[in-house]
Amino acid sequence: MSTHPQANAAPEPIPQFDLSVQYATIGAEIRTAIERVLSSQQFVLGREGAALEGEIALLCGVAHGAGVASGTDALILALRACGVEAGDEVLLPTSTFVATGSAVSALGAKPVFADIRPETYNLDPSELERRVTSRTRAIIAVHLYGLAADMDPIAAFAKSRKLPLIEDCAQAIGALYKGSRVGSFGDAACLSFYPTKNLGAYGDAGMVVCNSPEIAARVRILRNHGQTAKYRSSEPGWNSRLDELQAAILRVKLRHLAGWQHARRSNAAEYTRLLQQIPGIMTPLEPQGFEHVYHQYTIRSEQRDALQQHLAARKIASAVYYPHPLHLQPLYAPLGHTLGDFPHAERAAQEVLSLPMYAELRKDQIARVVDAIAAFVKC
Ligand SMILES: Cc1ncc(COP(=O)(O)O)c(C=O)c1O
Repeated sequence: MSTHPQANAAPEPIPQFDLSVQYATIGAEIRTAIERVLSSQQFVLGREGAALEGEIALLCGVAHGAGVASGTDALILALRACGVEAGDEVLLPTSTFVATGSAVSALGAKPVFADIRPETYNLDPSELERRVTSRTRAIIAVHLYGLAADMDPIAAFAKSRKLPLIEDCAQAIGALYKGSRVGSFGDAACLSFYPTKNLGAYGDAGMVVCNSPEIAARVRILRNHGQTAKYRSSEPGWNSRLDELQAAILRVKLRHLAGWQHARRSNAAEYTRLLQQIPGIMTPLEPQGFEHVYHQYTIRSEQRDALQQHLAARKIASAVYYPHPLHLQPLYAPLGHTLGDFPHAERAAQEVLSLPMYAELRKDQIARVVDAIAAFVKC
């Protein structure tokens, strides 16, 4: 029998993300911010929201921000503000969270899917020419997992066809592409502040950022029942306003974001340093000129499902983002796609696995995840 008190202890579970560690460090600041809102008794479209809009726009390197109720609403309202209507087609990558497609569908428009580059999981720009039609009305580029899509060729294509370009930055706030932040390349860009995002609220929240005063003004009208003046609506809108409590919480967290992004990047570098020796495991690529913010640290393995079970048996969480590309979702069965239509996206869906990733993840936890992966590969 071991004399070491810890020798037989069950291993500490390693979660996919752990918001409680973050709250332990910023809880006092958050409670002060909440108290400030409660004292003001102003809960919707107030000073906190307006201040956050300016701060997020500044971070993204654009002129305007319009806070909305979620990242999904940001997409719906941005598409609508860019002129997308029922019957139009919108080009987007098939490897993304369903919200990117369902925002298009919510307007009665048709998502037209495109394949990805297998090494970055982002839209393959050469697909755009193949998929564009006379009905195409916009393009959505998604910056999946925290890595920017290859925006130069995408923006050049959009410009050549005079198509509005919308960035889905839900997973990538702060990521850099050739020295500029995501959110600054499109006609409009959409952010999600879902709690587990790199900048997460304590509930749902989102924002549209853009340089165009017209698009910003349109989103502000659409998020508030289409009202151009009090009780005067000239078109149908939504109630999709960012509330003051979430805005105040996000403003506190924004002050910490650079440090958290740095910690995520350092954790990713440690994973990659340790994992790159292991055969059969592909680590995430950060191409020259890109700065990944590692919303997810996503590896690939041909034995993905067995590897995930092996990790789970050792109390290590992991996640598959996403098991079904959009063209194979039951939602889009009416579009008539079949297996084989987008081979790179389909293969990624079989092989990707996101490992635990958050700023406070410790190096000893990373080592344990990597040891478990190495043991799996050896068996
Ligand atoms: C790529 C992508 N787009 C859109 C969304 C939708 O954001 P929300 O959950 O805030 O509506 C998400 C959220 O997970 C996302 O990951």
